[in-house]
Parts: sequence; structure tokens; C-alpha cells
Amino acid sequence: MARPVSNPLFARIYPRINAVAEAHGSLDHRRELLAGTRGRVVEIGAGTGANFRHYPPEVDQVIAVEPEPRLRAMAERAAADGVAPVEVRGGRAEHLPVEDASADVAVMSLVLCTIADVPSALAEAARVLKPSGELRFYEHVRSPHRRLLRTQRMLAPFWRLFGGGCHLTRDTERAITDAGFTVQDVRRFDFLINGRAHPSAPSIIGTARPPTA
Ligand SMILES: C[S@@+](CC[C@H](N)C(=O)[O-])C[C@H]1O[C@@H](n2cnc3c(N)ncnc32)[C@H](O)[C@@H]1O
Repeated sequence: MARPVSNPLFARIYPRINAVAEAHGSLDHRRELLAGTRGRVVEIGAGTGANFRHYPPEVDQVIAVEPEPRLRAMAERAAADGVAPVEVRGGRAEHLPVEDASADVAVMSLVLCTIADVPSALAEAARVLKPSGELRFYEHVRSPHRRLLRTQRMLAPFWRLFGGGCHLTRDTERAITDAGFTVQDVRRFDFLINGRAHPSAPSIIGTARPPTA
């Protein structure tokens, strides 16, 4: 059986990290990620629930899955801020507590960097999506530039330790296509803070269709 996800240090610092990121532009990224979503949404690794208030009124229900108990408690509090009804569930991406083919949208934001078993998590996202559904993703990724990639590789062990297991050098778009999804659109950009790149600056936001059976 997989070990429970427990990251007290990360749970304490992530709300502050997120507040800084949101003040410098990630709020817009969250809005971009969720624009046009509708119906029944499964949000995977919802953290503190930072996305909840950005779901449009066309969303009927959000099932938010979060394994870390302290973050899950924050998500439960944030659930009240959303326009759509949000139900927070314990569980891991690799084994979602959600029925087959029941979701119009699966949302993964800043989470494929951290999940231990990415192929299983994406297979689970595909399982819970209706054939007509879509995956929405917003992730920081491996830099295409040699110099920044070298820095990412150098910082990786420290980053994983203080970032709740976060990997800096994942090629997440590749992982999504390797899992059988068809990427519909993707925007690659550097998320600059005060005009400067940082180790988790290279980012993608996009949508993908689930594999056909
Ligand atoms: C950087 S936080 C992002 C939280 C949130 N998605 C956001 O956009 O702010 C990474 C999240 O992934 C969660 N996580 C870690 N391992 C996971 C797993 N195996 N399945 C689902 N979520 C996981 C963590 O508990 C944490 O909430």
C-alpha cells in the first residue's frame, strides 16, 4: 500500500509561497486554467483550495481530492468561497476516489511536479473523465534552456526536501502525451517574478483530450 502523504513543513509554508506567486501573476494563470470549465470537475491534489474561487458559474460541482491532511483542512475551509459546490475528499491521484467516466473536466495545477507516480495519476485522470471530457493542466516544468536546466538539476534535492516532494525537471507535457492524452492547446511561458526567471519559472498551461478506449 502507498504511504500516506504527510508534509507538515510544506503545509505550513505553501500558503505563503502561493500568496507571493498569486501577487506576481499566478492568479491570472489560475483564471486562464479554469476559464470555460463546466459540469462536473475533479480537481486532483487541490492543496489549500486556491482554485476554488475561480471556477465559473457553469461548473455544477467540484470534487477536490487532496491527500495531505493539513492542506485538506485548508481546502475544506476554502470550499465555502467557491461559486460552485465543492466536495473535498481524501485520496491520492494514483487511486482517485471517483467513479469511472463521471467527470467533464479533470484539473491538475502545480501537482504533476509532486505526484510520486505520474503515469498512474494520468491513467486515473483518464479513467474518471467522460470520453467527451478534458484535462486542464497548469504546471512548472523542465527548462528547455541548458543553463537554467543545469540550475534546476543542481537545486533539485533541496527543492524536493522543502517543496513537499516537488520535482523541478519533469517534462510534463511529454508525460501527458505518453499517457495517451491528445494535447489540444498549450501555452509555454516563463513565470517571471519581478521580471526575473527562477528555478520553477518554465511553465505550461493547456488542455488535453483523454485517450479513446
Ligand atoms: C504545490 S501543491 C499544489 C496545490 C494546488 N493544486 C495548487 O494549485 O495550489 C502540490 C499538491 O500536490 C499534493 N500531492 C502530493 N502527492 C500527491 C498525490 N500522490 N496525489 C494527489 N496529490 C498529491 C500535495 O499534497 C499538494 O497539495
